[in-house]
Amino acid sequence: MTPNELIKQLLLSYNNSDKETFLSAAREYIEREKRMKHTQVAKELEKALFNKNGSSSSFSERRFKNEMPIPRDSEKGFPLLEIKNYEECYENLIIDNELKAQLDQIIREFKDSDILATYNLSYKKKILLCGKPGTGKTYTAQIVSALLNIPLVHIRFDSIISSYLGETAFNLRKIFDYIEQGTWIVLFDEFDIIGKNRDDIHEHGEIKRVVNNFLQMMDNFNGNSLLFAATNHQHLLDPAIWRRFDDVLFYDIPDEFTRIKLFERFLKPLKREKNIDLGDISKRSEGLSPSDIKMIAIEAMKLSIIDSRDTLTQNDLLFATKRFLSREKLRKTSKGED
Ligand SMILES: Nc1ncnc2c1ncn2[C@@H]1O[C@H](COP(=O)(O)OP(=O)(O)OP(=O)(O)O)[C@@H](O)[C@H]1O
Ligand SMILES: [Mg+2]
Repeated sequence: MTPNELIKQLLLSYNNSDKETFLSAAREYIEREKRMKHTQVAKELEKALFNKNGSSSSFSERRFKNEMPIPRDSEKGFPLLEIKNYEECYENLIIDNELKAQLDQIIREFKDSDILATYNLSYKKKILLCGKPGTGKTYTAQIVSALLNIPLVHIRFDSIISSYLGETAFNLRKIFDYIEQGTWIVLFDEFDIIGKNRDDIHEHGEIKRVVNNFLQMMDNFNGNSLLFAATNHQHLLDPAIWRRFDDVLFYDIPDEFTRIKLFERFLKPLKREKNIDLGDISKRSEGLSPSDIKMIAIEAMKLSIIDSRDTLTQNDLLFATKRFLSREKLRKTSKGED
């Protein structure tokens, strides 16, 4: 049978719950891969078809695995992760060319993981995202999930920390057990909790243990997913931690040119006056993050809409920028940053 015929048979037998035909088609497919010397692919497929004991898993077991309940904290009962589907255009992520090239490479490797496997090579599986707040770390995971059409499993690191000894490690175990059953884009967000708690020595020791635990589980991770971990306190991370990741993406504060692109992107919903000078607005917004720029753009558009004007003016933008900058100044003085 040709590969297409085999796949058709797999799908039909799955639909008819015809286990025997399903298994024989799957076996034939694997044998075919072996004959073509795609040893690694054949191995992976065998692993997928058979459970650890070497016996084939039943349809009902597989279905159950696919629909495994979302793991919850045993003490408080809240879900330890969230699964979401995103619809976002990859072009909406505005980052410099170097970073884009790095991200493109990660995506291409993930897409071609089967081919890499035939050479006994693995795609970049564990990616560290670092950079200041609002620069696009969480957004990147959402965009990649949308691009690859694979749901995003979002884990907020602070929410899995339990006050009960041992419970945190157990929570992590449950999360890894869950994600190993499927193919996901996974984001361990707020990984920077290590930084936030550095003043509290007791807490720091506990968090360090949790992070070590997390890294160990990540090292042993055997699934087919793409794992992201995000932090905005990368300077506090041990170099040993960096080495555990296959790649590190650094999100910088955007330069003047990138800021213009960001304004263009966020101002898209509204018509603009012909003489609008985004270069000028970009110069005034030095040091701001993409998320700050988004806020200014939204504020400016609202000024125009509420005024019953369907065209954005330079004044709207100037006003919104000034307002944002004075609010920032106030925030920084109150935090003693200035
Ligand atoms: N590089 C970017 N390109 C386009 N939009 C961006 C970019 N960065 C941020 N944004 C916009 O700002 C929002 C917030 O960004 P995001 O949540 O990704 O920041 P973050 O880096 O995860 O920050 P934090 O460290 O505070 O978690 C995004 O949902 C997106 O709309
Ligand atoms: Mg984030």
